[in-house]
Amino acid sequence: MPNQIAVLKGDYIGPEIMNAGLKVLEAIANKYGFDYQIVEAPFGGEAIDECGDPLPPKTIEKCQSSDAVLLSAIGGPKWDHAEKRPEQGLLQIRSKLNLYSNIRPTNISEAMTQYSPIKNANDVDFVIVRELTSGIYFGTPRHKDDFQALDTMYYTREEIKRVAKIAFDMAERRRHHVTLVDKSNVLDTSKFWREVVAEVAKDYPDVTLDYCYVDAASMKIISNPGQFDVILTENLFGDILSDEAAQITGSLGTIPSMSIGDGGPVLYEPIHGSAPDIAGLGVANPFSMINSVAMMLANSFNRSDLAQKIYQAINQVITDGAVTPDLGGHYKTEQVTDAVIDNI
Ligand code: NAD
Ligand code: IPM
Ligand code: MN
Repeated sequence: MPNQIAVLKGDYIGPEIMNAGLKVLEAIANKYGFDYQIVEAPFGGEAIDECGDPLPPKTIEKCQSSDAVLLSAIGGPKWDHAEKRPEQGLLQIRSKLNLYSNIRPTNISEAMTQYSPIKNANDVDFVIVRELTSGIYFGTPRHKDDFQALDTMYYTREEIKRVAKIAFDMAERRRHHVTLVDKSNVLDTSKFWREVVAEVAKDYPDVTLDYCYVDAASMKIISNPGQFDVILTENLFGDILSDEAAQITGSLGTIPSMSIGDGGPVLYEPIHGSAPDIAGLGVANPFSMINSVAMMLANSFNRSDLAQKIYQAINQVITDGAVTPDLGGHYKTEQVTDAVIDNI
């Protein structure tokens, strides 16, 4: 049986970078052997246009019966004032597949340092473990009228524990250091996170746990990013800090992510959005999507060998300066993609 991959192409630059990712997948599969089958399904704005639902039942079914889900980016001005938004589909798919941990790496290869806006980028290698299916994104009550609005940040002990375990397991395979980022000088949810995470830490005596307030963390990610190994944080803080961290590489358009739960398909997607400002120009950076494909091969299909080939090819392309305008280059998405394939 071929490995089944559900492909959700997304909106605006979504299809442009998905094509790039799939082209690289095809090339590497042909050259080194990897048996797979793509199952496409409508999602986000495309699905709203098609059937009025950003996550149609048949799409979630296809995802559930696949070995991995590859998603590009959804959303954009076309649906900003629509009754249903593509973003609702994104939150639903994460929730329905129970993908409570979102892993967003920031690491810089030697070749990449030239594009970084910060001076001390050479030792940067950390991951953000972002809680993904709870917190203020999902908490109720939630309300808006002409006079007031309300969102609720809510966490249960179990929700914190399970994502904390993912972070500590990851730290054990890395540099044995977890930093919990929170706002425990103000928020009760953050105080609770500290209590529960300290409990979990007792099962990992060889991992150091420290704490950092989110405002200070946003400063340290720029001033001394090399100090971080695994950053564990709640949903909204993780969303914001991961875009900031991405920029250390020189562009938001380089960073992949994986969202994992307890078994079931893992979802791979770039951390950025659908970039409507550059859609249709053919200049979107495909690295985030190609890196997502590599992450998928390594984590869902036990093919780290193929992932390494992709990382090496990207490194060579970066060294050669064949990059898109977000990194200061003049190459088009397709040219960068072909250059990656040439180096595989
Ligand atoms: P965005 O991440 O789409 O874009 C922010 C900036 O980064 C833009 O200037 C864009 O051109 C640039 N950028 C992003 N990816 C790039 C790439 N691959 N190559 C080159 N430049 C790139 O954020 P936004 O503009 O705030 O949001 C646009 C839409 O995307 C919104 O509807 C938002 O809700 C949605 N969104 C979706 C996801 C997702 O699908 N996971 C994530 C974030 C935002
Ligand atoms: C992301 C995005 C989403 C989030 C939006 C589009 C709902 O910003 O994947 O980072 O906030 O999680
Ligand atoms: Mn985001």
